[in-house]
Amino acid sequence: MAKRTIAGSRVLVTGASSGIGREIALELGRHGADVVAVARTADKLAKLADDFQSLPGRCEVVAGDVTDDALRHEAVRRATEAFGGLDVLINNAGIGALGPFETATAERLRKIMDVNFFAAAEMIRVALPTLKHGRRPAIVNVTSILGSVGIPQSSEYCASKFALEALSQSLRAELFRHGVDVLVVAPGSTETEFFDHALEMTAHPPWLDSKRTSAADVARAAVNAIARGKRSIVPNFRGRLMCWAQRICPGLVDLALRRYG
Ligand SMILES: NC(=O)c1ccc[n+]([C@@H]2O[C@H](COP(=O)([O-])OP(=O)(O)OC[C@H]3O[C@@H](n4cnc5c(N)ncnc54)[C@H](OP(=O)(O)O)[C@@H]3O)[C@@H](O)[C@H]2O)c1
Repeated sequence: MAKRTIAGSRVLVTGASSGIGREIALELGRHGADVVAVARTADKLAKLADDFQSLPGRCEVVAGDVTDDALRHEAVRRATEAFGGLDVLINNAGIGALGPFETATAERLRKIMDVNFFAAAEMIRVALPTLKHGRRPAIVNVTSILGSVGIPQSSEYCASKFALEALSQSLRAELFRHGVDVLVVAPGSTETEFFDHALEMTAHPPWLDSKRTSAADVARAAVNAIARGKRSIVPNFRGRLMCWAQRICPGLVDLALRRYG
């Protein structure tokens, strides 16, 4: 994995209107990167563009839904038109839901897979021809610690993030000969509006009330990992503990999680 200079990099960030994506965009802007910011809520994107006025980096916004193929093409086109190309694609847009699988709808599963997995995968396919001409190109997929630990009441979300982890691993090997790096950023519990945006909340597991890492801290760790050419990071201490426990003693993790089913 290549080290890269953030200043002057051309970066496309999905889900940049709030939370981790917004903080990543701003952190990139502070380091002098040029950012194409994508999300559905135009007024929040306009606010982000405003906040860029005082930063060395430039910001272009593209409002739309990442599940829309035309929007994905428009976002890559904008990077080329405004900045002359694309060096880093950050697939961050994501949604979730809380509650048992059995009584949830097929639509809930489909919607979460559409945004968290299919849209990210197709964003990569659309961006790759341009990325391959980029400077030290990289794809950054924001997954979750729930991309390696499956927990109750979040089955669809965990499935979508496991899928994105697997895609990342395959593409890391496949794209090596093209010089395109693949970085996975797997946050644990982070202070954002994620649960306000949830499709459904039919359960309230106790970890919802636990202490969270700030989105700004996660963003700093993500941008630092991009610069240092890291392969995969878990930017929260408790998240790292959980992933470690899952690897070392999966049976014990099963036992601990059982009571929340
Ligand atoms: N918060 C956590 O504890 C946590 C932990 C692990 C991983 N993550 C992951 O971190 C990423 C960012 O989440 P967050 O916590 O920052 O939540 P957030 O504040 O709700 O941000 C989600 C972002 O995704 C965008 N988005 C959602 N659906 C979209 C769609 N169909 N098309 C375009 N944009 C869409 C939202 O913008 P619009 O609504 O304006 O479209 C928003 O900018 C997600 O992938 C999430 O799974 C979060």
